[in-house]
Amino acid sequence: MTAAFPVQDARAKFPALGRAAPFVYFDNAAGAQLPQNVLDAVAHHLVEINVQRGGRYAKSRAVDAMIQASREKVAAWLNADDPSEVCFGMNATSFIRMVSLAIGQTIAKPRNRIVVTDLDHDANVATWRALERMGVEIVWWRMRDGGTLHVGDLMPLLDDRVRLVACTAVSHALGSLVDIAGVARAAHGVGAEMFLDCVHYGPHALIDVKAWDVDYLVCSGYKAFSPHMGFLWGKRDKLVSLPTFREEFIPDEPPYKVEAGTFIFENVAGMGAAVDYFEALGREMGHNGDRRGALAAAMNAIQLYEQSLSRAVLDELKSVGATVYGLDDETRRVPTIAFNIEGHEPARVVEAMAQEGFGIRDGHMYAPRLMERLGLALDRGCMRVSLVHYNDLEEVARFGAGLRRVVR
Ligand SMILES: Cc1ncc(COP(=O)(O)O)c(C=O)c1O
Repeated sequence: MTAAFPVQDARAKFPALGRAAPFVYFDNAAGAQLPQNVLDAVAHHLVEINVQRGGRYAKSRAVDAMIQASREKVAAWLNADDPSEVCFGMNATSFIRMVSLAIGQTIAKPRNRIVVTDLDHDANVATWRALERMGVEIVWWRMRDGGTLHVGDLMPLLDDRVRLVACTAVSHALGSLVDIAGVARAAHGVGAEMFLDCVHYGPHALIDVKAWDVDYLVCSGYKAFSPHMGFLWGKRDKLVSLPTFREEFIPDEPPYKVEAGTFIFENVAGMGAAVDYFEALGREMGHNGDRRGALAAAMNAIQLYEQSLSRAVLDELKSVGATVYGLDDETRRVPTIAFNIEGHEPARVVEAMAQEGFGIRDGHMYAPRLMERLGLALDRGCMRVSLVHYNDLEEVARFGAGLRRVVR
């Protein structure tokens, strides 16, 4: 099956890969490269229609149309029926902060508990913990030692005191997938809401807000082959009742009430084009139905192909005797893999790997609680390689050879 994924065709669409060669991008969890059609969409915006929206002249109307088209494309990518549920902005963190502040304003005893996890990026932890001064009680849902969250461990934490469960769709550090629909079902079972951090999941597999039945979701475009931007999706009734900051002239309805100020239009054009990229990939893989179907074909093919990358990286790491923090099962993870090698400082190995031509990362992965759980010092942490669908097995083999040279 994996041989069917057109990885070389995909690579050819990303100019940065060829220009940087033989450098290998294995730090995609921190931000991914852009396909040519995304670069073209950004350039087109800046050259042809770089004006404020909401004017009566053609260029301004073209900006309005572009924003609306990008909302529709992103809605299809998420499987949301209503494009007005898609709100554009700077990044995921600012949206999590915005929703958390709004919830903080309305939260009251006896339903004043918020569940967070020790697997999550701190963007989806610190933002909720900041509500403690507003009377919120934080409840920790702890991952199991293998690096996974189990809904069975969440259940005893849930009762009618819980207002919201905030968790990730997949670990940005360990790569483990979460049973998202199970979490939403459990949260809703006690009348709580679910806030999903989909930042790391977006580039790797198919998002389905309908099947998952989550209430809010955030993504960062720049992790999903778009320029730097982020977006929030929320169920319309949730966004309608969310008390947001809004200037008087802004309509009191989503998405406008959620989008404070002017965002970066060219990057929204880029995000729309990133969805086009996925759709085109789905069509190249034989899907000739509607947009959502093509997107599903692409994202499912990406997920399957990436399993072969996970397996290959795990095998290379085993061959150097690395300690992998997380699952050895490629079917339950994405190719984002954290590890250490006994007797070697992570920073030194990553420096040496940079000399070998690999961009990988070391440190705390912006997840202090996770580091604590893994018994790792914050100022040392671990190493992480994070691959996406434009990486290939040849790069993984070279990575293994490079790592063996470095730790020899
Ligand atoms: C899982 C996860 N959540 C949230 C964030 C924060 O995203 P942003 O940079 O868009 O605020 C990141 C960024 O690395 C992340 O990996």
